[in-house]
Amino acid sequence: MGSPMPDAGPRGKPASASRTEIAHLVMPSDANTLGTAFGGMVMQWTDLAASMAAMRHARLPVVTASIDQLHFRAPLRIGQMAILIAQVNAVFGTSMEVEVQVLSEDPLTGERGRCCDAYLTFVALDAQGRPTRVGPLHVESAEERRREREARLRREARLRLRDELARGAG
Ligand SMILES: CC(C)(COP(=O)(O)OP(=O)(O)OC[C@H]1O[C@@H](n2cnc3c(N)ncnc32)[C@H](O)[C@@H]1OP(=O)(O)O)[C@@H](O)C(=O)NCCC(=O)NCCS
Repeated sequence: MGSPMPDAGPRGKPASASRTEIAHLVMPSDANTLGTAFGGMVMQWTDLAASMAAMRHARLPVVTASIDQLHFRAPLRIGQMAILIAQVNAVFGTSMEVEVQVLSEDPLTGERGRCCDAYLTFVALDAQGRPTRVGPLHVESAEERRREREARLRREARLRLRDELARGAG
């Protein structure tokens, strides 16, 4: 039996315990006619990596509530590896923000480049499928504290935009 992941201490579970890194070799079936990965494919890998980080923190089933805008800075070419690094930035009540950094890696040289960054919000669900509170997050480093602070600002803007869009649709 392996040892379990670090559990919550008195101040909560360390943000680093949610860190999830996955690698995916970009195959022709992932790509468009230019030989680069479809944006939608990268979004799928991003959502999956983020959901694993969210579940690692919450140890509960989660659903994606929102994905903030995505800007693709550089393409991922067939034969490159897509590296997705996900970590919980902040826990609110029943929801949490996860940041995903998507990098390209040349498998032969190891050279890495930045493809895109994404912020996703997940909501934890109880056995009845209702939103349920998530345990606290312990941010340890200055970098994690900055990420948590900025996540709180993004949450305000995100919920404001959601409400504006809902009013517009109503
Ligand atoms: C996300 C979902 C569970 C929220 O349910 P709800 O009935 O609106 O619940 P609440 O209003 O109590 O909100 C629950 C939490 O979600 C957050 N939330 C709701 N909509 C959100 C959005 N668009 N962006 C970010 N957070 C959101 C709320 O802020 C709240 O977080 P908090 O407890 O940390 O403050 C519900 O809308 C849902 O099931 N959506 C579909 C999810 C799904 O199927 N995703 C896969 C893509 S198809």
